[in-house]
This record gives sequence, structure tokens and C-alpha cells, in this order.
Amino acid sequence: MTTWTPRCSGDPVADGWVALHQAESWASERMDPQTWDYVRGGAGNEVTLHDNLAAWSRHRLRPHVMTDVSSLDTSVSLFGEKRAHPILIAPTASHSRYHPDGERATLSGAAHAQAIATMSTLASLPVADIGAHAVDVNGRWWMQVYLQRDRSLTYDLLDQAVEAGAGALVVTVDTPSLGARDRDKRNPFGAPTGVTFPNVPAHTVEADSTPTHRRIWNPHLANNVTAADITDLTHRYQVPVLVKGILRPDDARRAVDAGASGVIVSNHGGRNLDTAPATAQVLSEIVAEVTGAVPVFVDGGIRRGTDIATALCLGASAVLIGRPIIWGLTTYGAAGVTHAVDILRTELEMAMALLGATAIEDLSGDLL
Ligand code: FNR
Ligand code: LAC
Repeated sequence: MTTWTPRCSGDPVADGWVALHQAESWASERMDPQTWDYVRGGAGNEVTLHDNLAAWSRHRLRPHVMTDVSSLDTSVSLFGEKRAHPILIAPTASHSRYHPDGERATLSGAAHAQAIATMSTLASLPVADIGAHAVDVNGRWWMQVYLQRDRSLTYDLLDQAVEAGAGALVVTVDTPSLGARDRDKRNPFGAPTGVTFPNVPAHTVEADSTPTHRRIWNPHLANNVTAADITDLTHRYQVPVLVKGILRPDDARRAVDAGASGVIVSNHGGRNLDTAPATAQVLSEIVAEVTGAVPVFVDGGIRRGTDIATALCLGASAVLIGRPIIWGLTTYGAAGVTHAVDILRTELEMAMALLGATAIEDLSGDLL
């Protein structure tokens, strides 16, 4: 990707990027087939992948009219911090696959859009550099955690991440194994040339003698993560610990009982357990279980401001966006990340105006 140039004029507004989905095909044209398969793909028959999108549309918004909406406020408070809007960037691996500046571009674009950027353990930039760049661009970032089998490696990394300014830890618990990602399996085995994981040193990874077609374990993903790990992290670090990958009320309760400060309802963008429910389907029962105790976040298939409004009406405190951020990064670099968030934020404001909701607190179950 050393020859990277932005798409067309380089200005997503001038190029007429008005809705998120447009950038999906633009991004696909700029990726090698292996990368495109990896980004777009889901597990198995991709039932959950598609259902994530469809499930938001199965909800219906019932607007209140005759309300003065001349002043709209999208701000939210997350762990005591006021944020301009409830749109966060979900963690996704290896941003240098999409842009030569990798996570630096994502952080810059996110900062410009006033969005918190969650950085993956499998990022292409060391956490110290992530933190330094976030300071340079006055951005806020959270650290996603894939626990390593050798927990001391994870603690070393998180010591550095917290030191470098990570505002929260997002522990992903839905990936003891990746799902059956046929597209990736058909592609040449291993990460493409130039993709490295500086936050999980390769020399620490145990060799796996299982033939590749019979492998289910990934050397970078611990398969023995339990609620006790969450408790350990909450004891070790002062920043909020969120648990990502919750799809059931009882697991949300276990996360909260273990000390989590928040839960993220997620099926990993349909990439792991196929036929798991869409997040829009299970969100409200999880909110009902932990309501008042901790904030509930959600991701998966959120592509419109109305999807965000629906999520908030169902009780979410904020949403995370995965693939569309990659599309923006691939097509326009930092400007594309900013624009992806701006599109959603603008659509959310429109939805609020049309629903008769002047503040985020007005988005309640009454509007569904
Ligand atoms: C992901 N996701 C993910 N999650 C995580 O906790 N750590 C990670 O490193 C990654 N990596 C990753 C790579 C790619 C290419 C994708 C598409 C997704 C999952 C991600 O955080 C999020 O849960 C979903 O992407 C949300 O769904 P949408 O918005 O992509 O539909
Ligand atoms: C993925 C892992 C890296 O979904 O989270 O590809």
C-alpha cells in the first residue's frame, strides 16, 4: 500500500459520499481480494452477518410530532466523561492493511469527528505509538484486549496501554476460536506480507502442529478466558473495564458481577458463531438485566442514524461501528474515518428531529 492515494478528489463530500453503504464497493475496488474477503466476510453461511443489518430494520420508530426540535443535543456522558455524540469506533485489526498510516490515520480521523477510537490488540502500531499519536491529535482512545495464553504478556501490554493514555479496556470474550470463515480459509494461509502484530510478539506464540485444515485455535487468542480474568483486570487497572461479545442477559450479569463497568452487546460482526442472534434482537433483554448497573453498548450492522436511534431507544448508551470505518480509511484515509462518523451523526440528528427527541435521553422505548 505504499502507493496509496485517496479516491477521486480526495474529498468525500465533493465526491458525493452521502450514505455509508456507498463506500463499501469503493473500498472493495481498492483492496486485494484476500483483504476484501477478510473484511466483508462472516462465519459459516453468514446468517448472522446479514441478520445484523436486517434486524435493525425490523424495528419501527414511532415519531412524536408537534415538538420544538430547534435545538438538538447529541451529547452523552460515558464513565463521567462528556462526549459530543454516542458513536464510537469498534476495534478492528491491522489498519496498515487499509492505509499506510494505519491506526494513526484512524486516530486522526476519529479525533476530528470527536469519536472515541477503540484500538485492537492486533493493531499494526505499538500501543506506545498509539498513545503518542492520540496526544498529538488530541484524540481519545480505548484499548481492546485479546488476552494471551500467557497472561503476563497481556498485563505488560495493558500496563503500557494505560500508561499511554487508554481511557478504558474493552475485553473481547467472544473469540476463543474464530468462526468458520470459509472465505479466509480458501485464501493463502497466514497474514499477508507486511502485516505484523507488534502488540503480541510472534516469538511468544506456541507452534501448532495441527494440520491447517484441522486447526481451530488461533495463537493470538486465548481459549480459556473466564469471568475471573475480568475481575483480575478490574483489580489491576483503574480505568473502566468493558466486556465485549455479550449476547445473553445471564452473561451480562456475570460480567457485571465480575466487576465490569460496561458491556458491549456484539456477535463480532457475524464473524464468529454463525446463527447467533442479531444484536438488535437481544439488546433490550440485556439492558433489562443490567439496567442501572452499567451502561450497555452495542455493535453489528449499524449503518444508519435510524439504526443508532433504534439502539438508543432499546436502551443502549452508545454504539460502535466496525466495517464502515475500514471503508472510510481505505478510500479517504483519516478524512474517510471522519466522514463515516459525520454521516452517522448527521443522520442521527435528523432522526432525533423527526422523532421529536431533542436530547439523547429522549430516545426511549416509547418511540418504538
Ligand atoms: C473485527 N472485530 C474485532 N473485534 C475485536 O474485538 N478485536 C478485533 O481485533 C477485531 N477485528 C475485526 C476485524 C475486522 C475486519 C472486522 C470486520 C471486525 C469486530 C468488531 O469490533 C465489531 O464487533 C464488528 O465489526 C461490528 O460489526 P459491523 O459494524 O462491522 O457490522
Ligand atoms: C477478526 C478478529 C481479529 O474478527 O477479531 O478478524
